[in-house]
Amino acid sequence: MRFDILTLFPQMFEGPMKESILGRAINQGLIEVHTHNIRDWGLGRHKQVDDYPYGGGAGMVFRPEAVFGAIEEGLGVKLGSAEEPAPPPDFPILLMSPQGQVFDQAMAQELAAYPRLALVCGHYEGLDERIVQHAITREVSIGDFVLTGGELAAMVIVDAVARLVPEVLAEESPGEESHTRPLLEYPHYTRPATFRGWGVPEILVSGHHGKVADWRFKEALRRTIKRRPDLLVKLELQLDKKERKLLEQVLGEEESQGHS
Ligand SMILES: C[S@@+](CC[C@H](N)C(=O)[O-])C[C@H]1O[C@@H](n2cnc3c(N)ncnc32)[C@H](O)[C@@H]1O
Repeated sequence: MRFDILTLFPQMFEGPMKESILGRAINQGLIEVHTHNIRDWGLGRHKQVDDYPYGGGAGMVFRPEAVFGAIEEGLGVKLGSAEEPAPPPDFPILLMSPQGQVFDQAMAQELAAYPRLALVCGHYEGLDERIVQHAITREVSIGDFVLTGGELAAMVIVDAVARLVPEVLAEESPGEESHTRPLLEYPHYTRPATFRGWGVPEILVSGHHGKVADWRFKEALRRTIKRRPDLLVKLELQLDKKERKLLEQVLGEEESQGHS
C-alpha cells in the first residue's frame, strides 16, 4: 500500500516512519510512504504558500496554487477548473481537518482496502475553501480537539491503516483487538506468574483453551460495559447465541456484585 503525504514539514515524518512496525513494513516493501513538501510548489522567490484571509480576521490561510500544484505534479492527479471539471482521482485524497468525519477503526479498515491514499496536512487557520471543494475527496478528523497542524493526525492515520495491511503485523492478530468489533479487548498477563505478591487469573494457566476463550470474552464484555457502555448497543446486534449467553452471565454477575 502506498501513502502520499502533502505537508510543509516532511522532516516530521522521518523518525516515526523509521521505527518499529512501520519501519519494518517499509523495509519489507509492504508499505511505501512518500512525503511531498507543499512549499516546493509555493509562489515566487519566497515560495509563498499562505496569505491573509479575505474578509479579515486572525491567522493565515493556505492559498490554492501550491496545494493544487502538489496534488497535480506531486501525485500525478489531474484537477479541474470551473470551466473544465475533472473526474474524481483514482485514490482518496484526505484532508486532515478538525471539521472532518471522526476517524475510527471502521474507517481504518475501509481505508486499508485502497492500494493508495494521499493525506494533506493543513496548517495556519486552514485551507482556502476551493481546495477543500475541488481537490479533496474527504475530510478526516482524529478527534474533537484542534492541533497546530495536520502532521500528527496524518501519522495517526498512516499507523492505524498500515497495521491492517496484510503481513504488516508479524505476530499480533488484529482480529480480537479493541474496536475491531464494538468491544474492548480483554486484559493481558505474562510472566512471572506472581509479581510482588500479585498473581494471574488461574484460568489462564489451566491450559484449557475453551475456558480461556470464554474467560477472555467475558472480561472483554465486562470492560466494555464499565468503560464504554455506548458500544454495547451495536455489539448486541452482532453477538451469536453463545456470546449472547456469556453476556447474560456477565450482566448477572455484575448485577449481583453491585447488590452485594
Ligand atoms: C489550527 S488547525 C485549523 C483549525 C481551523 N481554524 C478550525 O477551526 O477548524 C490547523 C490544521 O491542523 C490540522 N488539524 C487540527 N486539528 C485536527 C484534528 N482534530 N484532526 C485532524 N487534523 C487536525 C488540520 O490540517 C488544520 O488545517
